[in-house]
Amino acid sequence: MDTMFNKKLALVFVFAASVFLVMNNNGVEASHNIYSRLQNAAAVEVKQLHRTGYHFQPPKHWINDPNAPMYFNGIYHLFYQYNPKGAVWGNIVWAHSVSKDLINWEALPPAIFPSKPFDINGTWSGSATILPGNKPIILYTGLDADKRQIQNYAIPANYSDPYLREWIKPDDNPIVVPSQEMNSSQFRDPTTAWWHNGHWRILVGGKRKHRGMAWLYRSIDFKYWVKAKHPLHSAPETGMWECPDFFPLALNGRSGVDTSKVGEDVKHILKVSLDETRYEYYTLGKYFPAKDRYVPDNTSVDGRAGLRLDYGNFYASKTFFDPSKNRRILWGWANESDAADDDKAKGWAGVQTIPRVVWLSPDGKQVVQWPIKELETLRGLKVDMNNQNVEQGQHVEVKEITAAQADVEVTFSLGSLDKAEEFDPNWANLDSQTVCSLRRSDIPGGVGPFGLLTLASQNLDEFTPVFFRVFKTKENKHKVLMCSDAKSSSLRPFNEKLYRPSFAGFVDVDLSANKKISLRSLIDHSVVESFGAGGKTCITSRVYPTLAINDAAHLFVFNNGTEPVTVQTLTAWSMNAPQQMNQNLEF
Ligand code: FRU
Repeated sequence: MDTMFNKKLALVFVFAASVFLVMNNNGVEASHNIYSRLQNAAAVEVKQLHRTGYHFQPPKHWINDPNAPMYFNGIYHLFYQYNPKGAVWGNIVWAHSVSKDLINWEALPPAIFPSKPFDINGTWSGSATILPGNKPIILYTGLDADKRQIQNYAIPANYSDPYLREWIKPDDNPIVVPSQEMNSSQFRDPTTAWWHNGHWRILVGGKRKHRGMAWLYRSIDFKYWVKAKHPLHSAPETGMWECPDFFPLALNGRSGVDTSKVGEDVKHILKVSLDETRYEYYTLGKYFPAKDRYVPDNTSVDGRAGLRLDYGNFYASKTFFDPSKNRRILWGWANESDAADDDKAKGWAGVQTIPRVVWLSPDGKQVVQWPIKELETLRGLKVDMNNQNVEQGQHVEVKEITAAQADVEVTFSLGSLDKAEEFDPNWANLDSQTVCSLRRSDIPGGVGPFGLLTLASQNLDEFTPVFFRVFKTKENKHKVLMCSDAKSSSLRPFNEKLYRPSFAGFVDVDLSANKKISLRSLIDHSVVESFGAGGKTCITSRVYPTLAINDAAHLFVFNNGTEPVTVQTLTAWSMNAPQQMNQNLEF
């Protein structure tokens, strides 16, 4: 009897709890964790510890995806998913900031927020397109009264307002709705449109059963859109494709090209954010505009084994073409690695990574990235270290700069590669992150591990190493692994919910030629964004040191390989904060 009663009570409880959950999220199925009790818990105090000095962050509360980055009449615009009421995901609006240099930002009131039947339950991610006549238009995902994910457009209320403060969502929205056979709760994040032969095209992310896909739509007038017979691309066993991005890169050089560019002198990139892994993957391939087919090259694969723009905490990224400087720029979101309750206590969550210029590697096999040049305007005090030999077990401090808020560029020169440790054939099926977790920075090797110890406490009780390790395969080839390992980044107890991954990616370099490899790390209190081999492999880590904070943070060069390495050149700068960074964000 008692058990019966308990069971009934339990059922009532589960039912009540789900009703509560549904009511608090409007029943919206989001890929973000839902913390109903925290969604409207406004920050009482904003904790400065771990807030970044030069990364993009609003003064408080939750942010996720960068939306519709664009350049218009001398101004850069960045919109982003924002919860005005709390430090966890929920109540999402499109916050809006503008900048003349991508570094100093001014916050404006939210540009898009739920207000119409076609977006009353949500204003989710989307992109901007500049239409002929220099007219920006935004496409975004709205959640309608039935919680269907549908695609809407918004246009500036006043094109002559240089900041494009106010956006209108005309009543002929939505412009794209899921058809009968489609899953209407998995249909979102329209791309920037491209134009070819009389038609505009966009992609919308989705899935059918477990097959992830990029639905393709065409339009002549940007209002009436027709679904193409075939998605542009899809892949089995990949689940929901969020935030697709499809763009051309020039085969030669670093200049960017307009999103509509097609032809023999470009290659296309299709990037998708896999909801299931919360990581992003891309393929490179050929786009055939006449047939609207995209065929990935055989050097890149779909899904979890695919190439990544960043092997760390980097999601929902988006590129845009900057015609003022002829470059393509990538923004990504670096979420927190701590728990929702920590975020509530901090009063904030999420940062945008430093904008990066992207181009194609000369061999056409991958994307290469580098922080925008404008970032260098924040460089302050500078120190150098040249021709410094680092023996096994040694760590050499880079002194004087503010190590918690710094930019460091280093080139390592290696001796013989003969002593490189063997790449265990059993690792062949493991991903790079797992290999790094097995061969962490304190495990001696032959050539490496060597690199930087960022956000380190004086006695190395805490540190986030960013390093390389050179392996030799059975075929006598060298394989270079780059790691950014959060395992020892914080003295917080291991039973606390804190994600401390050993992020890693392989680096496609031929070391035998000149035996040199470079590393750049952007260190910013709780973010370490690193660029290996000139931006071939990039890794972003989020970490929460307890000792290595502010002036107590240190930076070292280290080597734990038997072979000595030489710091051929190292330059490190203290980084200043931007002049204005999103102050006055009160809505
Ligand atoms: C990616 C994402 C998008 C969605 C948005 C909601 O992080 O889940 O698919 O549009 O965030 O905030």
